[in-house]
Amino acid sequence: MSLYNSNYDIRKKNNLYHVAIIMDGNGRWAINKGKLRIHGHKAGIQSVKRAVNFAINHKIKALTLYAFSRDNWKRPQQEVAALIGLFVSTLEIEVKSLHRHNIKLRIIGDVSCFSDNIQDRIKYSEALTKNNNGLILNIAANYDGRWDIIQGVKKLAKKVHKGLLCPDQITEDSLTSQLCMQELSSVDLLIRTGGEYRISNFLLWQIAYAEFYFTKVLWPDFDENIFEKALKSFYLRERRYGGVLSDKKIN
Ligand code: IPE
Ligand code: IPE
Ligand code: MG
Repeated sequence: MSLYNSNYDIRKKNNLYHVAIIMDGNGRWAINKGKLRIHGHKAGIQSVKRAVNFAINHKIKALTLYAFSRDNWKRPQQEVAALIGLFVSTLEIEVKSLHRHNIKLRIIGDVSCFSDNIQDRIKYSEALTKNNNGLILNIAANYDGRWDIIQGVKKLAKKVHKGLLCPDQITEDSLTSQLCMQELSSVDLLIRTGGEYRISNFLLWQIAYAEFYFTKVLWPDFDENIFEKALKSFYLRERRYGGVLSDKKIN
């Protein structure tokens, strides 16, 4: 049974367990200031720290951040190298602090294409924080929502091939358990900064009933006030999951 798949009580106040963020707008933020795009990516790291602190202070159980998509390899080589460099150096600098804050860090995505050094750094960071029971922080690096589903389906197909699983035994939970975030099957609130109204191949399976919050604010300007606004908006939503609110009066 996955964590958040239990029968939802639609009359209950909205519970906020899992927030995911598409951190977009770094490049435009830098260009607006007459700087190179990489300055925007650097500035965006401060916003990541603010978002993590906010999530801890607001007792959010899981925060999933889109840092680098598989399609981002299409960018100029210099920008890709800078992005990966920033990812690795931030991981190195911050992992001890994340550990002190009881954060369980996971890198989700196809990490097999990164160098051995980077893969070792990822393994070390995940191993160091794996027993922590505070915030679950998922950083999506070389992530792609369709790829995630395909790699999960392949793992199930291999089990079927070996005779360990009958096709009829494949359920939502069994596929969920093979995805990058495993038991975190549902996102409650998906925020996208930068003014675009799209998913850009981020989490697909997990956003089936997510509430969306789009803001024009560029990621380096994202702060506690905007996060707070997103939460307020979330708490005002009526999450019906296809049902009806039976205790509501119809005029
Ligand atoms: C988001 O900012 C960061 C990544 C995609 C890595 P962008 O770099 O996409 O910034 P814009 O959208 O071009 O402004
Ligand atoms: C999505 O932003 C990816 C990340 C935030 C890491 P993009 O800037 O790559 O998305 P598109 O190209 O506008 O769809
Ligand atoms: Mg962008």
